[in-house]
Amino acid sequence: MSNNLLLKGPEKGVLLITLNRPEALNALNTALLSELSAVFDDAEIDSSTRAVVITGSEKAFAAGADINEMAARDLVGILEDPRIAHWQRISRFPKPIIAAINGYALGGGCELAMHADVLIAGENARFGQPEINLGIMPGAGGTQRLTRAVGSALAMHMALTGEQISAQRALQAGLISEICPTELTVERAVQIAETIASKAPIAVRLTKEAIHKANDTDLATGLRFERHAFTLLAGTSDRTEGLKAFQEKRKPKFTGC
Ligand code: CAA
Repeated sequence: MSNNLLLKGPEKGVLLITLNRPEALNALNTALLSELSAVFDDAEIDSSTRAVVITGSEKAFAAGADINEMAARDLVGILEDPRIAHWQRISRFPKPIIAAINGYALGGGCELAMHADVLIAGENARFGQPEINLGIMPGAGGTQRLTRAVGSALAMHMALTGEQISAQRALQAGLISEICPTELTVERAVQIAETIASKAPIAVRLTKEAIHKANDTDLATGLRFERHAFTLLAGTSDRTEGLKAFQEKRKPKFTGC
């Protein structure tokens, strides 16, 4: 039972999750994060879900952690925060996540967007890590994932000043891969997710993992992982089918085996 999320699908392999706390611009309170974490639990073991799209409203993808909830937590509360486990759950989701970002993606909202593998944004999107304005700092990956995505110059600028950047600037900096008219962002994200869902699932999964390795390890280790994953795929029926379909000039029929 989900109060803060709207779920659609899976249809054509795609599960669409819409954050639905309009009264707080989709601020990520613990209840919402817990529901999100449970949806990812189910989606991981559901073989009919091959990719997930996550979005918010046209005004806000998410305006960050819930500041009222955060204000009620002391040091011990932060140390024992159940939210940490929810964030970790999302970050180890093995299937592709596509974020369709319109409006504000601030603080935890920007951090949630950065948990996605493909980020696309509407023309009205605004990205920022404004925690510094509250006397705190990013705590769900903002200093690490933002720096890896856009480099330390822009990450420092954003996290130290709290200034927001536009969709155009985010595209230029490599934080997102595409800008769409705001009203078409979700449709485009679903289209991308359907394309991914039509590919061989094991190849998709290993590709995601290998690209994540590029951020996590040195080049030699990453290249070794890539080679092992590439070799592993030789044991799949989908590889045989993909290569055969090319030779027979037809579309492949992937089964996930
Ligand atoms: N937490 C709780 N409530 C929030 C919220 C948040 N992060 N962001 C917005 N809201 C609420 C507002 O309090 C307001 O509620 P009321 O109508 O009951 O007063 C409602 O959403 C609408 O917001 P505004 O009236 O402020 O809308 P606006 O269009 O004037 O401004 C905004 C939009 C610039 C996004 C502004 O709401 C804002 O600055 N929000 C806070 C952004 C922020 O600082 N995020 C970082 C949070 S800390 C964090 O994220 C840390 C972490 O993860 C580890």
